[in-house]
Amino acid sequence: VWFAGARGSVATTTIVGSLLLRAGLARPVGCVTALPDFPSDGLVGVADLVFGGHDVVDVPLAKRAEQLVSAGVLPAEPVAAIAGQLGEAATELRPAPVSGDVVAAIAADLTAFRERVGADRVVVVNLTPTEPPLDPLPAHSDADGLLAALASSELRLPPSSLYACAAFVAGCSFVDFTPSPGVRVPAVAELAIRAEVPYAGNDGKTGETLLKSVLAPMFARRNLNVRSWSGLNLLGAGDGANLADPGARASKLASKDRVLAGTLGDVPPGEVGIGYVPDLGDWKTAWNLVTFDGFLGVPMRLEFTWHGCDSALAAPLVLDLARLVAAAHRDGRVGPLPELGFFFKDPLGDGPHGLDAQWRELTAFAAGLGQP
Ligand SMILES: NC(=O)c1ccc[n+]([C@@H]2O[C@H](COP(=O)([O-])OP(=O)(O)OC[C@H]3O[C@@H](n4cnc5c(N)ncnc54)[C@H](O)[C@@H]3O)[C@@H](O)[C@H]2O)c1
Repeated sequence: VWFAGARGSVATTTIVGSLLLRAGLARPVGCVTALPDFPSDGLVGVADLVFGGHDVVDVPLAKRAEQLVSAGVLPAEPVAAIAGQLGEAATELRPAPVSGDVVAAIAADLTAFRERVGADRVVVVNLTPTEPPLDPLPAHSDADGLLAALASSELRLPPSSLYACAAFVAGCSFVDFTPSPGVRVPAVAELAIRAEVPYAGNDGKTGETLLKSVLAPMFARRNLNVRSWSGLNLLGAGDGANLADPGARASKLASKDRVLAGTLGDVPPGEVGIGYVPDLGDWKTAWNLVTFDGFLGVPMRLEFTWHGCDSALAAPLVLDLARLVAAAHRDGRVGPLPELGFFFKDPLGDGPHGLDAQWRELTAFAAGLGQP
């Protein structure tokens, strides 16, 4: 598993968490693929995953783990017990290429990693900071033209798309855990088809949108009339600081918007806000207010408050996605994997947005893994 953004909160929590699981020092709470609905013989074991990655900062992984221990995200004693394994994992992290032919340099690191660790296949997971939308998307419709334009610096693309290109050039699958442009660029998607590899996305569904994807189908099924739906998300840490930028915030808000349209038909009026509160650190507070009416137009309201630890919610999903996408790659799946919509705020394809319907698609997909 190769992380773009390997020293960030989610990547560090994922690496530490998988080492703790392997050492028997943690239980797979939050790991969907640990449920009995997922055939263990169809998926690579968490203990068999090997991690590497790129980052633009060089803060030692042990230091990042220490920070997450101090923040209460990671447990102190078990983390101390795996210090040796963490040191070993850190040897597979590399400085992110940022100049010259970035795609070729990333692809070379991916190929070298796959050979060095003897992996059957590599899944690249994008965990870099959320980027603003690309509007318009670059019109290079042909993958070769895109690669040539990138190599000569005639065209610039954001890191999410560069990592996706490099993954496909190196024959790796790709997961976009962010709402960034990534594979949305048509010629990048074409590269995946040409390389015959699968990809999944977009934007991990870990908090407010997860709740919406459960509650909105309830209103729809009970034929209650949702009149407005508003929310405020307050978060700290690196993700919070980055989302204070209006461009990055626009990508996140667009991604969050899909669930109500997909479950209620129309997006009811309301405001969704994102605010940066450094004091919250890795915790996120989402507050939502839904006004609706019932029989004879009687007005009612629902409010919820969610206090989630973002990285603890995201890391097990990253492990799930790595296992599922690696299995899809092994089974010869090519292009988008809409069946993994369960994990995302803005799923690929035209699949359902309600969590239960997405769960049925996911388990049907998992049941087919490894079948001839
Ligand atoms: N935590 C969640 O619940 C959740 C849910 C959905 C989406 N996400 C998204 O996941 C991403 C990661 O979140 P996080 O909390 O770990 O953020 P973070 O800020 O802690 O980590 C991002 C890391 O990416 C690195 N980086 C920046 N530019 C890079 C580049 N060009 N190449 C390689 N690395 C680069 C940064 O140095 C940093 O270490 C964000 O985009 C966030 O929006 C998180």
